[in-house]
Amino acid sequence: MILVLIGPPGSGKGTQAKILAATRKFPQLSTGDMLRTAIAQGSELGLQAKKLMDQGALVPDSVVIGLIGQRTLESDCKVGFILDGFPRNVSQAQALDQMLKTQGREVDRAVFFEIPDEDLVKRLSGRRTCVECSAMYHVENAKPQKDGLCDQCGSSLRQRDDDKSEVVRKRLQVYHEQTAPVVGFYERQSKLKTLDAAESAIQVSKVLTDILG
Ligand code: AP5
Repeated sequence: MILVLIGPPGSGKGTQAKILAATRKFPQLSTGDMLRTAIAQGSELGLQAKKLMDQGALVPDSVVIGLIGQRTLESDCKVGFILDGFPRNVSQAQALDQMLKTQGREVDRAVFFEIPDEDLVKRLSGRRTCVECSAMYHVENAKPQKDGLCDQCGSSLRQRDDDKSEVVRKRLQVYHEQTAPVVGFYERQSKLKTLDAAESAIQVSKVLTDILG
C-alpha cells in the first residue's frame, strides 16, 4: 500500500506513521526527517534546508522530489510505504503521481488529519524529539520514563528549532496557503479519507486502522 498522510504541523502524522510502520511493516518516508538528517550531517543540502526550515518556509520542490524519488526505489519500499510530510503542495502531488506512474504504481489512499489550529500550538510547543533515533515525546501527553531521556535509546531529548512559537505561526500560514489544497487534489481522485486528529493518539490510531482495513 502507498499511503499519504496529510495534515498541518503537529496534527500527529509522524506519531501515526511510526505506529503504522511498526505494525504493518511499511517504511515511513518523512521528508522532514530526511532534511533533519542532512542538517545533522552538515551537508550542503542540509545547510540550505536549515535556513528555510528555521523560517517555517518550504524547501524547494526539486529537493524533496529528488529525495523521495531516490528513497522509493530502495528495496524496502517494494511492499509500499507511508508518506509523512510529502506531498506538501499540488506540484509535489502531481510530481509524485508522475514518479509512481513510471514505477507502475499509484497512491492507494490519502488520509487528512483534521484539527483546529489552536490545538496545534500546544502540541508543538510541548514536543520533544530524541537526538539519536527521532522517537517523539510530549511534555504532557507522552512523557518519557526518565525526564529528558529517550525510552528507546537513552539519548537526550530536545525541542526542534522550528517548534518555537513564531516559527509555528509561519508554518501554519504556509500549511493553509500551500498544503491544504493537496486535500482537494486527493478528494478529486476519490482517494481521500478524513479523521478527527484532535482525538487521543490511541483513538486516532484505531480510526486509521479502520480506514485502512
Ligand atoms: P516536518 O518535519 O514534516 O514537520 P510538519 O509537517 O510540520 O509536521 P510535524 O512533524 O511538526 O508534526 P506531525 O503532524 O508529524 O505531528 P507529530 O506526530 O510530530 O517538516 C518540517 C519542515 O521541513 C517544514 O516546515 C519544511 O521547511 C520542511 N519540509 C518537510 N517536508 C517538506 C516538503 N515535502 N516540501 C518542502 N519542505 C518540506 O506530533 C506533534 C506532537 O503532538 C508530539 O509531541 C506528539 O507526541 C503529540 N501528539 C501526536 N498525536 C497526538 C494526539 N492525538 N493527541 C495529543 N498529542 C499528540
